[in-house]
Amino acid sequence: MAYSGFDLSGKAAFVTGASRGIGRAIALGLAESGADLFLCSRTLADLQAVAREVRARGRKAEVAAVDVGSVESIQAGVGAALRTFGQIDILVNNAGINKPLPALEVTEDNFNEHVAVNLKGLFFCAQAVGRTMVARRTGKIINISSTLGIVGAAPRSVYSMTKGGVTLLTKALALEWAPFNVHVNAIGPTLIRTDLTRFVQDDPVAYDRMLAKIPLGRAGEVQDVVGAAIYLASPASDLVTGHLLMVDGGWTAQ
Ligand SMILES: NC(=O)c1ccc[n+]([C@@H]2O[C@H](COP(=O)([O-])OP(=O)(O)OC[C@H]3O[C@@H](n4cnc5c(N)ncnc54)[C@H](O)[C@@H]3O)[C@@H](O)[C@H]2O)c1
Repeated sequence: MAYSGFDLSGKAAFVTGASRGIGRAIALGLAESGADLFLCSRTLADLQAVAREVRARGRKAEVAAVDVGSVESIQAGVGAALRTFGQIDILVNNAGINKPLPALEVTEDNFNEHVAVNLKGLFFCAQAVGRTMVARRTGKIINISSTLGIVGAAPRSVYSMTKGGVTLLTKALALEWAPFNVHVNAIGPTLIRTDLTRFVQDDPVAYDRMLAKIPLGRAGEVQDVVGAAIYLASPASDLVTGHLLMVDGGWTAQ
């Protein structure tokens, strides 16, 4: 008999930044494990296509434009998901931006934009969904941090700062909501080949410099992150909270 610990049948998942990249791959992976999906991104572009892919896997899917930089938009999106599915069992806080600049060139706008999306947006999504999970005494929150959530890299001071914040926020929320059986964990991906990292992939010197940091010797594909997300969303991880699960090819083992 197959191990049933990864079964997500009957669960509803809310995924931010689900239109492409890691968010899309995680959404499809959760659907393949049985979850229904509420798919959000800053705009509706591409979301309907992902919803069709979810439905093709036999699961329900709804979409909404949610700008995580706006608390009002987050609250509207979470309200719509609750009206659609009645509950949210899994939150994947995936939406994020990375617009690197040397520290001496960082502008106030660049700084504020990273904080608004990567940190404030993630916090208020966790708060809006966490409120309902705490009330129901059940839930799984998965925050997408980064390798750069525990080690620094130039010229990514502001991005690293936000991802370090995500790592510690994960631990603090895990402690606060553990009495309510709400699990809060994070994933720390290495360099994954998505639109977000196109500028690195297109720069052979920068790309090779990053690959040299990865003992397993390759960059990640979005599919490399999916298993970690299914694990942290599922009953298999019921005694795991406050954890940062690295999917980094060994980068941070050094
Ligand atoms: N690609 C990597 O190498 C890598 C490594 C570590 C961590 N991460 C993290 O993984 C997450 C996903 O990255 P990706 O590589 O798939 O990026 P991506 O740029 O391919 O996709 C990002 C998604 O977030 C959405 N988004 C951006 N701003 C938003 C906003 N204000 N409100 C709502 N949605 C918004 C985009 O529309 C898109 O759907 C990010 O948090 C990123 O920091 C990526």
